[in-house]
Amino acid sequence: NIIPVITIDGPTASGKGTVASRVAERLGFHLLDSGALYRLTALSALRAGANLADETAVAQVGHYLDCSFVGDQVFLGKEEVTEAIRAEEVGNSASRIAALPAVRQALFDLQLRFRTAPGLVADGRDMGTVIFPGAQLKVFLTASVAARAERRYKQLIGKGFSANMDGLLADLQARDARDMNRAVAPLAPAADAHLLDTSNMTADEAVEQVLGWYAEK
Ligand code: C5P
Repeated sequence: NIIPVITIDGPTASGKGTVASRVAERLGFHLLDSGALYRLTALSALRAGANLADETAVAQVGHYLDCSFVGDQVFLGKEEVTEAIRAEEVGNSASRIAALPAVRQALFDLQLRFRTAPGLVADGRDMGTVIFPGAQLKVFLTASVAARAERRYKQLIGKGFSANMDGLLADLQARDARDMNRAVAPLAPAADAHLLDTSNMTADEAVEQVLGWYAEK
């Protein structure tokens, strides 16, 4: 496939969502927020009253997922769920169902279809390892747990929510452990990924680094 793909993988709150969307904007590429697909599947399954441990039932929900992305907005059917899929409960459910192989399989083809001209920036956990192993550029973003917890803290306070640093640290560590230790598509850098530690970087500095690497290709 000659349509270029840049994959940006990394742990929760590493800044990959922000970096991926700015890189896509700069290059005029499409964006795949693969985490949103797991969140949409989780939300849809929760609403249908499905048992989240029922792999076959949740995979069916994923297979028939009726979602669309318009600018920054996310839709489930005709309903806008941009905010709803960001809820903590949905994120935790997404992380649980993402460990089920049949669910990952159900979302496989849908993710490949995002690769359209002139190019794609794909953000997630397994974009460079499983979904787009032939990507032109693979980036793995990291940041210390402390830096990630602080970013999340500021985000929540900025939105007017209350937040507790110890709780955030514990949540991040639990989510990291689940994503890294699952049997299928665990969070890990591809062998040929460029590692970028953003602990002491702004999002814009990270964007410039990614664009620099892409220009070298
Ligand atoms: O990135 P985001 O926090 O939106 O992803 C929600 C959850 O979906 C993650 O905790 C992770 O378990 C799962 N996920 C995944 N593979 C991806 C993207 C997200 O397993 N490519």
